[in-house]
This record gives sequence, C-alpha cells and structure tokens, in this order.
Amino acid sequence: MRELISKCKLLAFLFLLTTIALFPTKSHGKDSIKAGESINGSTQILVSAKQNFVLGIFTPQGSKFQYLGIWFNNIPQTIVWVANRDNPLVNSSGKLEFRRGNIVLLNETDGILWSSISPGTPKDPVAQLLDTGNWVVRESGSEDYVWQSFNYPSDTLLPGMKLGWSSKTGLNRKLRSWKSLNDPSFGDFTYSVDLNGLPQLVTREGLIITYRGGPWYGNRFSGSAPLRDTAVYSPKFVYSADEVTYSIVTTSSLIVKLGLDAAGILHQMYWDDGRKDWYPLYTLPGDRCDDYGLCGDFGICTFSLTPQCNCMVGFEPKSPDDWKRFRWSDGCVRKDNQICRNGEGFKRIRSVKLPDSSGYLVNVNTSIDDCEVACLNNCSCLAYGIMELSTGGYGCVTWFQKLIDARFVPENGQDIYVRVAASELDSSNRKVVIAVSVSVASLIGFLVLVVCFILWRRRKVKGKVQSQENEVEMPLYDFTTIEIATNHFSFSNKIGEGGFGPVYKIMK
Ligand SMILES: *[C@@H]1O[C@H](CO)[C@@H](O)[C@H](O)[C@H]1NC(C)=O
Ligand SMILES: *[C@@H]1O[C@H](CO)[C@@H](O)[C@H](O)[C@H]1NC(C)=O
Ligand SMILES: *[C@@H]1O[C@H](CO)[C@@H](O)[C@H](O)[C@H]1NC(C)=O
Ligand SMILES: *[C@@H]1O[C@H](CO)[C@@H](O)[C@H](O)[C@H]1NC(C)=O
Ligand SMILES: *[C@@H]1O[C@H](CO)[C@@H](O)[C@H](O)[C@H]1NC(C)=O
Repeated sequence: MRELISKCKLLAFLFLLTTIALFPTKSHGKDSIKAGESINGSTQILVSAKQNFVLGIFTPQGSKFQYLGIWFNNIPQTIVWVANRDNPLVNSSGKLEFRRGNIVLLNETDGILWSSISPGTPKDPVAQLLDTGNWVVRESGSEDYVWQSFNYPSDTLLPGMKLGWSSKTGLNRKLRSWKSLNDPSFGDFTYSVDLNGLPQLVTREGLIITYRGGPWYGNRFSGSAPLRDTAVYSPKFVYSADEVTYSIVTTSSLIVKLGLDAAGILHQMYWDDGRKDWYPLYTLPGDRCDDYGLCGDFGICTFSLTPQCNCMVGFEPKSPDDWKRFRWSDGCVRKDNQICRNGEGFKRIRSVKLPDSSGYLVNVNTSIDDCEVACLNNCSCLAYGIMELSTGGYGCVTWFQKLIDARFVPENGQDIYVRVAASELDSSNRKVVIAVSVSVASLIGFLVLVVCFILWRRRKVKGKVQSQENEVEMPLYDFTTIEIATNHFSFSNKIGEGGFGPVYKIMK
C-alpha cells in the first residue's frame, strides 16, 4: 500500500513536470520597431527587455478575429491591452510599420486597422515595449514619449498606469470593459475618475452609474479605510491642480493588476505563481448595498447578509407598498416640508459612506462652524459634512438637490448632518433618548456603546433638544437609526436588560 502511494506521488510529480513543460517558455525577441521597418504579425512581435511582456497578435478563444495586444510573457492568457478593439483582423496576420511618425497596424491589403496618435511627427521614431507593459513611441535617443499605450487603457490597470485626468495630456483615462470574455471590442462598462464635485471612482454602464466609490477627501475615499501600503500593492490617489488620478504601485515582487470584467465587476488581483492562478484581493461592488442608488433618494442602505434600506431621519418612503416589497429605488420624501427658516436644524447620521457628491458639492473652504451656518442659510442645502484634509484642517461639503447612494459602513464611515424640520427636532413618541457610554471592559476592543432606554415622556427635559452635533452624552436618535444600529433589535446585539428596558450593543 505504501509503495502504491509513493508510486502515485511519483506519477503526480511527473505529471506536474510535463504540465510545467507545456507552459510556454519565456519568449525572447526584440523590444522595439524602428522607422522603415515592417514587421509581419506572427504571434509575437515584440518582447520587453526583461521578458515581462509580449506585444503580438492573438485570437480570442472561439473567435475568428485577430487583435494586436499586450500580454504577460509567463502568465497564460492574460491580455492587458488591445489596440484594434473595434477593428479586428480577419483571417490575417497583420503588419506593423511607421507612417508619418505613427505606428500603424495594417491588414493583408494594407488597410489601416489601428494607429497611434502622436501630436508631433517624430523624425526617427522608435516604438518600444517596456518592462512595465507600456508600449511607447519616442524619438530615437529621447526619453520623452510622444505616444504611450498607458494613456489609452483597455480593461486593465497595471502598476505605473494612471486612471483619471492630468493637465499635461488633457486626457481622462478610464478602463473600458471587453464586450465579453472572448470579445475584446468595446464593452458597455467603464471605470473612471468622476471629476464633478469631490472626485469619486465610478463604474458606469453606458452613462448610468452602477457603482460609486465614496467621494475622495484628505487621505481616503469616504466609506473606505485611508489608502495605505499593503504587503502586495499600494493604491495612490493624487488630487491636485495638475492631476486627479488613481494608480497602483507594487510593493513586492508580486504581479498585480486591477481589471474591469465584461459584467462591470472590478477585480484587484495578484498572480499566485505557486498555484498558477490570479488571486483576488477584492472585487467591487462588494455587496448589494454597493449597487448605486439601491435605496433611492434620501435612502440609506444597511447590509447584513441581505441589503436593507431605511429612510434618512426626517424622511419616509415615497412608495410604501414598493418599499415593503424590497423595491426601494423610489427612495424617500420629507415628512415635514417646513425646512426653510422655520427653526429647522441638523441631525447627525454616523458612520456612512457619504452620498454622491458629483454636481451637488459646493465648498471645501469653510470652517466647521461656518459650514453649518452656510448650509442653514441656503434653503436648498440638504446636508453637510466635515472632512479632514490631508493638508491638515477641515473642509465643508454641502449637498443640494438630492442625497443618493449612502450606506452604513461599520468602520471607516463618516458623519453626515442632514437638515430636518423643527418638528423632527422636537420630542415625539417615535423617539428615544439614549445615553451613551464607552465600555472599557469590552473584550474585543470594539467600542461598545451602551444604550440606556429612558422614556422621553417621563423625563421633563427643559428647553429644546439641541441638534445632534452638539450632543455631549445625550444624543437623539431616530427610531430607525437605533433599529439599524442594533441590527433590528436582534438578539445577538442584546447585551442585557436595564431598569428602563432592554439594552443593546450598537453594531460598530
Ligand atoms: C510579410 O508578408 C508578406 C505577404 O504575406 C510577404 O510578401 C513578406 O515577404 C513578409 N515579410 C516578412 C519579413 O516575413
Ligand atoms: C477564414 O478562414 C477559414 C479557414 O481558413 C475559412 O473557412 C473562412 O471562410 C475564412 N473567413 C473569411 C472571412 O475569410
Ligand atoms: C483591410 O482593411 C480595410 C480597411 O479596414 C478593409 O476595407 C479591407 O476589407 C481589409 N482587407 C481584408 C482582407 O480584410
Ligand atoms: C479659501 O480660504 C482662504 C482663507 O480664508 C482664502 O484666502 C481663499 O481665497 C479661499 N479660496 C477659495 C477658492 O475660496
Ligand atoms: C443656494 O446654493 C445654491 C447652490 O450653490 C445656489 O445656486 C443658490 O443660489 C443658493 N441660494 C441662495 C439663496 O444663496
């Protein structure tokens, strides 16, 4: 028996050897084309100096078309860039040569299928495939690129590439999905930096947003942890007068990429050389609360196993029947419209991914105190938020028209202050006053907020309840907020029973 096992092991080992042997061995070849040269498109045309990347002609599985593309030399079937996406070669090998300083792809009958577009006309151009996967055209002897493939991304962001806008090129570079797994022609989805308002990274299907990362401020996208280096890669976002760009940098020898698939899903991955497979680090959207606008205007999404929408404080479902059937897209409407100089104020909603800031943003140059006043003074201001700036200090974000695509995030959320009518600030039987204290004894180290249930009517609180941002230890919560925070009063969140009623742990 033991012998049999060792024989099996040997067989497995031999099998492994042959499989490895079947993998294409590293390609060698030249890495550039010069003016006057014409290269017939065999599979491989150029190989970068350290043999990281290959530029050549490929035929997607099951397709009768051929494309000029760039792929990893020693990783099977991972195309990172395609030139002639909507103009394939048909039963033809193609040819590359320079024409008036531009590199062009020709078919058998010398029809131009694709061309680089350089602003100038280099006299002695060279088209070189670099070890970063960037294919560049430059004047021979010069390091300035007149054209580079990194400025025209396909569906993959490689380290060194930048998504977004830069003043130098005037381009707003975006990822564009393939039509399908085997069809590199232009698909419906894009992933880009939205430059309106505070910059946000958004996925669109045509013009419609399907996923939105939170607005950028300081050192993070709202709703996400601050950008920081990991052992595998480090994300970078630059927000300056010269550029608004997102990029990734490798922090190890691992090969990383961010890809947008044909269904509009983003995959951040690295190549696991041991397992010979791409290992996913994250995908976006992450859950259904990431579906853009799932809860409609003034709705806010909570995810725990399933998505759940609630209206923001002071709002109620626009179509209650739909709402009960989990169709939330109609969103919410204000319960009390007396919000123009009628003694209204603000209520804080904690720990959210801030709503869509595109087109609704006004000022990032106000002090905190001025922020509330500024919002209060303009009757169409719906909400404001305070952002910490990476340069130090604070900024003021204000929203107009609508609040859409907000969600609760247990960690890494920000506070938003929503304008509510005076009636919402007053007592009513739907509200409870809760005192909050921090449980130092918390084993897990979470902030455990202890909720003491005190019936409002029993206590005579003098004067008006202040808006929530002024709270010290007596915050006023809307019923739904508590419902959400306690996971719908779930048993697992119940930590005890106090003199005034049950005590819940707030989900953090
Ligand atoms: C390229 O292909 C054309 C026609 O298919 C042929 O005439 C020519 O000799 C080829 N050139 C090279 C360098 O293989
Ligand atoms: C492409 O080549 C295949 C086989 O060589 C042939 O059957 C097919 O008709 C060709 N298609 C075109 C569009 O030339
Ligand atoms: C070559 O490309 C031109 C221009 O796109 C096209 O009109 C022509 O039919 C193509 N020839 C072949 C053989 O595919
Ligand atoms: C921002 O605030 C500073 C100091 O109050 C002021 O000098 C500057 O003009 C403001 N910038 C804008 C764009 O309003
Ligand atoms: C309120 O803010 C909006 C958006 O900035 C602006 O268009 C409008 O003029 C402001 N209204 C008043 C009364 O200041």
